[in-house]
Amino acid sequence: MTEKLIIFDTTLRDGEQSPGAAMTVDKKIRIARQLEKLGVDIIEAGFAAASPGDFEAVRSVAESVKGSTVCSLARAMENDVRRAGEAIRPASSGRIHTFIATSPIHMQHKLRMTPDQVIERAVSAVKWAQQYTDDVEFSAEDAVRSDMDFLVRVFDAVIKAGAKTLNVPDTVGYSIPALWGERIKQLIERVPNSDKVIWSTHCHNDLGLAVANSLAAVMNGVRQVECTINGLGERAGNASLEEIVMSVRTRRDVFNLETRIDTRQIVPTSKLVSSITGYPVQPNKAIVGANAFAHESGIHQDGVIKHRETYEIMRAEDVGWNANKLSLGKLSGRNALRQRFAALNIEFASEELFNAAFDRFKELADRKHEIFDEDLQALVSDEAMAQVSEYYHLVAMGAHSETGVLPVARVVMSMDGVEHQADAQGGGPVDATFKAIEKIVRSGTKLQLYSVNNITSGTDAQGEVTVRLSKDGRIVNGQGADTDIVVASAKAYLNALNKLHGKQERAHPQV
Ligand code: KIV
Ligand code: ZN
Repeated sequence: MTEKLIIFDTTLRDGEQSPGAAMTVDKKIRIARQLEKLGVDIIEAGFAAASPGDFEAVRSVAESVKGSTVCSLARAMENDVRRAGEAIRPASSGRIHTFIATSPIHMQHKLRMTPDQVIERAVSAVKWAQQYTDDVEFSAEDAVRSDMDFLVRVFDAVIKAGAKTLNVPDTVGYSIPALWGERIKQLIERVPNSDKVIWSTHCHNDLGLAVANSLAAVMNGVRQVECTINGLGERAGNASLEEIVMSVRTRRDVFNLETRIDTRQIVPTSKLVSSITGYPVQPNKAIVGANAFAHESGIHQDGVIKHRETYEIMRAEDVGWNANKLSLGKLSGRNALRQRFAALNIEFASEELFNAAFDRFKELADRKHEIFDEDLQALVSDEAMAQVSEYYHLVAMGAHSETGVLPVARVVMSMDGVEHQADAQGGGPVDATFKAIEKIVRSGTKLQLYSVNNITSGTDAQGEVTVRLSKDGRIVNGQGADTDIVVASAKAYLNALNKLHGKQERAHPQV
């Protein structure tokens, strides 16, 4: 009989710990609904105790998602566990994931606790969590650098306390596959009653081995993998969901495991996460990169035409490439647009907001022949539509560039409802535009990243610009989309400034 591999997605929690990837509640709900459609077993929706906003995000996801278990992270602290328990209350199936570090370096320098105190606290956290749900997961943070005998003691104690899933994280991405597989094997052999729980792994990608380590763990008995869409996550990221799922599916001869994932939803999910977080997908990324199924050399093309399997081990359509071919155009009406939005899990709080989206759609259709799902996602991601009362708002702009002449830009924007205008010169039209904005705003931010990606193909495609700004240790990503990339750049810059303006303080779970 084929066993099941549980897919635990942490895009909304560990993924959100990527610099600048913080998401608003409605964006988290959109991703969560797409994860549900993808068939993810458990959605880690956030760290409820981090801030009132994070609590609300977990609670709202728990309310809107019914086809997946909704989970909140909680440090092994009574208040964290209580907040997690309250946030998952509306879920039809809710989990609390509590954790404490078990490595000497973390216990001594971060927690300042003795090993016995750590065990005692881990046991208490599992017991507190059980007051809210039977589905309690425990993680031994930095298990990779923890002493094996101590790990056995910790896991034994939390099983006795009632934990149902035991997660073994490579928090710092330090392991290599053969060693990780061996560590998992030994734990399962040595921990009493290990067959009464589900073993899980959570690997970071600091050495580029997160997927390989996760799969080594699976081959040694792990039946839950924690992963993220596009491999998003703290530092170099987490194991990528799409790579894990497609490895297990493509090499069924090796793993003999099944997941509940509808693989045709992989690419749409990847695109949604990328457009919401502002993290573009590298073209050569496995499964979801633009080149993942493109054959460049003549020999390969010839082989694929003669017999697809000569160079392809998976079918592009099986992971959802081409899933969004249905296009809308200038003549599409309100109903067609409403249906497409519904299929994309995009809801509007009021008819007024839908009307605004419809106007923007018509405006875009005047400039662009065909409108694809990605265009619609970008259209609603645009904060100008989503947040009616934004602090900084682009009213109008123009930019001019000509060979041999310094580019210039003029920006008209409102700041807290008051209109301002500025002109500036720059190295290029984008630089001039940012300088004009800064003449008005004087934000004191630092530009850390600027990137442009075409949302669909063709020269009439919308360019999606990501701008990463930092100020006083806070980092935000702003996005903007437009068929004119200078306008998209201005929108992205203002979007980032709006996020910096309104953002609330939140705690980091591992600090
Ligand atoms: O990397 C890590 O150890 C974590 C834990 C909270 C599971 O993210
Ligand atoms: Zn992690």
